[in-house]
Amino acid sequence: MKNKVCIITGAGGGIGSAIAEALFSLDFKLVLMGRNEEKLKNTAKGRDCLILSGDICDDKYVKYAVNKAVEVYGGLDVLINNAGVAQSQNFEDISMEEYDMIMNTNVRAPFLLCKEALPYLQKSDSGTVINIASVTAHKGYALQSVYAASKHALLGFTKALSKEYYQKGVRAHVISPGGVFTDMVKISRPDLSSDGMILPEDIAETVLYLLKMRNSACVADEIELHRETKEPFM
Ligand SMILES: NC(=O)c1ccc[n+]([C@@H]2O[C@H](COP(=O)([O-])OP(=O)(O)OC[C@H]3O[C@@H](n4cnc5c(N)ncnc54)[C@H](OP(=O)(O)O)[C@@H]3O)[C@@H](O)[C@H]2O)c1
Repeated sequence: MKNKVCIITGAGGGIGSAIAEALFSLDFKLVLMGRNEEKLKNTAKGRDCLILSGDICDDKYVKYAVNKAVEVYGGLDVLINNAGVAQSQNFEDISMEEYDMIMNTNVRAPFLLCKEALPYLQKSDSGTVINIASVTAHKGYALQSVYAASKHALLGFTKALSKEYYQKGVRAHVISPGGVFTDMVKISRPDLSSDGMILPEDIAETVLYLLKMRNSACVADEIELHRETKEPFM
């Protein structure tokens, strides 16, 4: 996958910056997306890449970013939909504005990013979409009703997309982690301590695995990961 072009959303911190770090080390040409430009620059640490700051809920920004990536690097091979927002709220307290914000970020934006990227991914010999869902794509936890709905939707979307584009040469995968030690988990699961948690680098390793296997005959549609302190198959 040397010199392949990859877009990473939410690349300014947490899981996204760990994925960027892993892909920098493999000489990927990276396009870093996120709202906070300073955070994206911290991820880049002066290395050659494309930093495009903006809100993925803004359609114009998404379209601009995908087209800019292709203009600068001449194509697109991998899209990693990592940006997302969590919540920890009683159902009755959630406003419809908050519902829209979470669904727009976690579902609509990856949908549009795929829509914009797929014409280019189809031209690649290794077109790949990796969507970062969550254990909540399969389960429902109290206080996370919209988050769970959004990640169920992202998983369902990826299942359909992967079938539609498999014969067209593009693979779409989902990684569904449990608690990863980032800023997000401090909001969504304030009850958890750092002990026995998944690390952002573990998710980056999982991304590397999927990309290394890209042209093999063995395909992992979804990879579920749980923290050490959780029982297996729960
Ligand atoms: N941490 C966990 O326990 C866990 C578990 C399972 C799945 N996940 C999933 O993993 C992904 C990454 O989460 P994380 O733990 O690394 O959280 P994080 O540290 O909070 O990072 C989330 C990233 O998403 C970006 N983002 C959010 N809204 C955006 C928007 N509207 N436009 C552009 N960028 C936006 C943020 O960028 P800015 O800061 O620049 O706004 C931030 O870099 C998420 O999809 C999350 O649902 C996390």
